[in-house]
Amino acid sequence: MEVKLSFEKPLSSTSDTLVLFDFEGTPGMSGMLDGKLDSQLGEVSSSGDFQGKEGQICLIYTYGKPKRVMLVGLGKKEKFHLNRIRIAAAQAVNYSRGIGIVELSFSVTPRQVVFSESEIVSSLAEASILAFNKYDLYKSEKPQVKLATVKICCQKDEDSVRNALSFSSIVAKNVCSCRDLINTPGTISVPAYISGLALELCRKMKLKCTVLDKKALQKMGANAILAVGSASENEPRLVAIEYNPENAKVAYALVGKGITFDSGGLDLKSAAAMESMKHDMSGAAAVLFTLLSVAELKLPVRVIGVLALTENAIGPNAYKPGDIIKTMSGKTVEVLNTDAEGRIILSDALHYSKGFKPDYIIDVATLTGACIVALGSEASGVMGNDAALIARIREAGMRTFERVWELPLFDEYQNYVKSDFADVKNVVSNQPSGGGAVVAGKFLSVFVDDFKWAHLDIAGTAWSDSDSGYNPKGATGVGVRLLTCLLASEAR
Ligand code: BES
Ligand code: ZN
Ligand code: ZN
Repeated sequence: MEVKLSFEKPLSSTSDTLVLFDFEGTPGMSGMLDGKLDSQLGEVSSSGDFQGKEGQICLIYTYGKPKRVMLVGLGKKEKFHLNRIRIAAAQAVNYSRGIGIVELSFSVTPRQVVFSESEIVSSLAEASILAFNKYDLYKSEKPQVKLATVKICCQKDEDSVRNALSFSSIVAKNVCSCRDLINTPGTISVPAYISGLALELCRKMKLKCTVLDKKALQKMGANAILAVGSASENEPRLVAIEYNPENAKVAYALVGKGITFDSGGLDLKSAAAMESMKHDMSGAAAVLFTLLSVAELKLPVRVIGVLALTENAIGPNAYKPGDIIKTMSGKTVEVLNTDAEGRIILSDALHYSKGFKPDYIIDVATLTGACIVALGSEASGVMGNDAALIARIREAGMRTFERVWELPLFDEYQNYVKSDFADVKNVVSNQPSGGGAVVAGKFLSVFVDDFKWAHLDIAGTAWSDSDSGYNPKGATGVGVRLLTCLLASEAR
């Protein structure tokens, strides 16, 4: 499906379907189409068929051109924000997939709204692309979808609008690829598969990509990654991707948790908890596709991506509760629960990322069930040691609607991970204990030293249990839009 701009008047659109948005409780839509279709528009509102409510869709057949007008409700105007446009666009695209619509035109300006045309174009484009992408690779009978083009009719032919479309199309396309990788079964997307894909994609984008295999990891003392991966025949990999533009003034290291399948290890998960654990590499996937977005957008900021890839399997060589690991940093970790493996592999990956001397480090990880308890799936947890960095991540979260919410890393939490036999332990205890998300964050902080750092816990946001707006069931690709927006803000 292609998304393009059009500067024709909405009603002279050659598309078979024109989408119009409207708010709930506004005085009707007559006049919206230069007097044309006024009686039909009046009829659907006076009959109560369409009141502009959130989620409402109503089709009008015009017996002319365009063939149909699709009315989509935006809900109450007082509650309007850009995400309502994204969700409404996704509804229109999803609806069109189900019937024979070939070309959709969006008419941009919902009346009297405070957002710029570029912001609206961006939102329409990204939501259309995101809603269109479904993971149906393994379906024998694929739905016959005719929708081929989405046109966004706007008023001004300006660079800002064209740039907005190209920016959001690039990012949304990478979010779709990110989702596809996460949705790939864990038996296929093993560490070597993901590192191979990273190599191939980076070669196309002329990005430097280094893959460290088990031997290299042994040489460099990445014992934390090796310990978690020890039960699996699919050996771990550590991937470093470098985007190094000449005009960069600042450098970010992005570090992703890439557990290609989290069985829990010897502390085996229940069937219900294990069901979606192929997505435990969502952090690494988000880092990979953020790097690819940033490179394609040619953003003037240096970015290093570090992917820690390993399986958390069960077997005779499995690492065990009671083990003490000497991590790459030299600091020792006592393992009390093999299912708290993400923080263990990140200890090596964070330490490794410091070697690139970044100004900021941000790690992304499906780290704790406790973060889901705290925030559900409406926000990712953010923790860190630099208030300004966290504020900028929060702002990018509001813009993209990949919202984040800060959880505190009070000094006192350090005692929670104090070990009797090593420098730190990986869980407080195996008895019920509180603060799981911040305890994990505090554990990570030990390995970043004085670097400015933020940790994103995406356990609640990386996977959607049902179709919702522009996120179909399965991987959401969270992190790509957020981080790309953050890095683009460096260029502004
Ligand atoms: N990968 C899980 C966290 C997770 C849970 C991600 C649900 C996405 C959805 C992580 O490795 C894990 O198992 N964490 C444990 C930690 C506990 C043993 C301290 C958890 O949260 O239960
Ligand atoms: Zn786990
Ligand atoms: Zn995990």
